[in-house]
Amino acid sequence: MEYAELQVPESLNELIKQLHGIFSGDKINVEEVQTLMESYKSNPADWFRFAKFDQYRYTRNLVDEGNGKFNLMILCWGEGHGSSIHDHVDSHCFLKILQGQLKETLFNFPDVNQKNQELSKKLESIYDENQCTYINDKIGLHRVENESHTEPAISLHLYSPPFDSCHCFDERTGYKTKVKLTFWSRFGERTPWETLESKENN
Ligand code: SIN
Repeated sequence: MEYAELQVPESLNELIKQLHGIFSGDKINVEEVQTLMESYKSNPADWFRFAKFDQYRYTRNLVDEGNGKFNLMILCWGEGHGSSIHDHVDSHCFLKILQGQLKETLFNFPDVNQKNQELSKKLESIYDENQCTYINDKIGLHRVENESHTEPAISLHLYSPPFDSCHCFDERTGYKTKVKLTFWSRFGERTPWETLESKENN
């Protein structure tokens, strides 16, 4: 579909500006956001200051709070890093690859009437630089992984409305637990150390 006002963003800042415009209204068009995010050609000079890695697990780095309408963040995946299987608590989730490649595995939600049931896999997809995918709870659950043993991966995620906790699911039993989501850095600055339990979603 063509969007009359859609301009290819020349930088991450321009993309953010356009996203603010789209999300200032009450309703969003998923395809429009996905097309816009995909049209931005990843340029490391735009985002390297947010791309902070941890040796042991993927990091979540807040880039923009979208006037309370969305959270935009950069996730940095070291070699072999991956998320748990999780939901998106009724939010939209857009995921664009800025560098490298990520694998997404989609699962069906477990049947609420059945206990101890292995999650059923729906689909596996590989996403390359600049591609943008979308998920919400109607589509299912997902796990995101950097399967490479040699290359890191970096992705740009937009969640709307923003959320700070979600549910993780055990693949073998479907058992669900609530997890708090934290940021490794905010606006390019390391988040101060929390004495309370601090967990990323992995
Ligand atoms: C995702 O849902 O796409 C990645 C997981 C996260 O936000 O921590």
